[in-house]
Amino acid sequence: MKNIIGLGLESSCDETAAAIVENGSRVLSNRIASQIDIHSEYYGVVPEIASRAHLEMINPLIDSALKESGLTFDDIDYVAATNRPGLIGSLMIGLQAAKTISYIKKIPLIAVNHLEAHLYAPFLNSETISYPYIGLLVSGGNTALYLMKGIGEMILLGRTMDDAIGEAFDKVSKFMELGYPGGPLIDKLARKAVKKEKLFPKLLAAKNADYRFSYSGLKTAVINYVKNNPDYDINEVAYSFQESAIEILIRRTFAAARDYGLKNIVIAGGVAANSRLRELFLSECRDGEKIIIPPIDLCTDNAAMIAGVSYHYFCRGQFDTLEADVTAKIRV
Ligand code: KG4
Repeated sequence: MKNIIGLGLESSCDETAAAIVENGSRVLSNRIASQIDIHSEYYGVVPEIASRAHLEMINPLIDSALKESGLTFDDIDYVAATNRPGLIGSLMIGLQAAKTISYIKKIPLIAVNHLEAHLYAPFLNSETISYPYIGLLVSGGNTALYLMKGIGEMILLGRTMDDAIGEAFDKVSKFMELGYPGGPLIDKLARKAVKKEKLFPKLLAAKNADYRFSYSGLKTAVINYVKNNPDYDINEVAYSFQESAIEILIRRTFAAARDYGLKNIVIAGGVAANSRLRELFLSECRDGEKIIIPPIDLCTDNAAMIAGVSYHYFCRGQFDTLEADVTAKIRV
């Protein structure tokens, strides 16, 4: 049987990406251009600047993905792009590029749900996972728990009621003037903590809140602590904040896995890069429970996950038309 080659494009936030994937799994190329340096002076993503940077980067990245895979446009069977959720202006750049390729090369267009794609990442370059599983998405814009039943079948179990976890890392970091993005910086400082005292209440997020999360209370507690303790130890604050932030993820995720009788837990999104998160999740596993975290370059925003998940829509003949539009927010 002929191998199916997909070109995926991703431009929902501050990463422009193009990737080529064979049969929904084998990554032939995965090119990413991050805008972190452009946005860092603002301590967050500026939508207008992001759109312009995507526009500059999208074509060079497509060329580079083709070159890296040793293929040409004539080898591509379908083109896919993220169309939801994300920053409207940013999403438009990737989707428009995909529409143009689809129109000129007469190949199917597939518009992809970014959240589903993130939680598909463990299927890339690996055959160790199958549906159903519990999916935890932790990034700068999302903190949500899903029951992943199959392609196109993701059921939202709970999400954050306020800030996303990555946003809380970034805001705490900004307040302590550490830099942007805050997650990796706090992760690093926390490793230097010695006393490891609990500086913040055990579980600030709403109790008995099913599978929901909350980070604004924890963020405010950290900010108030820093304001009221001018001689605070930066490593200890980073450690204690991080422990509380991860604790709620652990509680909710394992509760969901055990409630639904599922052993596989997939964690994706930028915050999955956190070293302590990995350690704590692994130590919580029992009775054959398995934590699956894709490699960092497939965990953060990338286009291989877009090309990968859309292969299954291609096989089903579920294509989009050139009328496809972008959507900032979605209901799952
Ligand atoms: O998935 P991602 O690359 O993109 C968006 O959400 O757009 O996630 C970025 C987020 C940022 O908030 C960043 O601070 C966080 O992931 N992050 C981390 C770590 N590395 C990145 N958070 C905690 N620990 C890390 N090591």
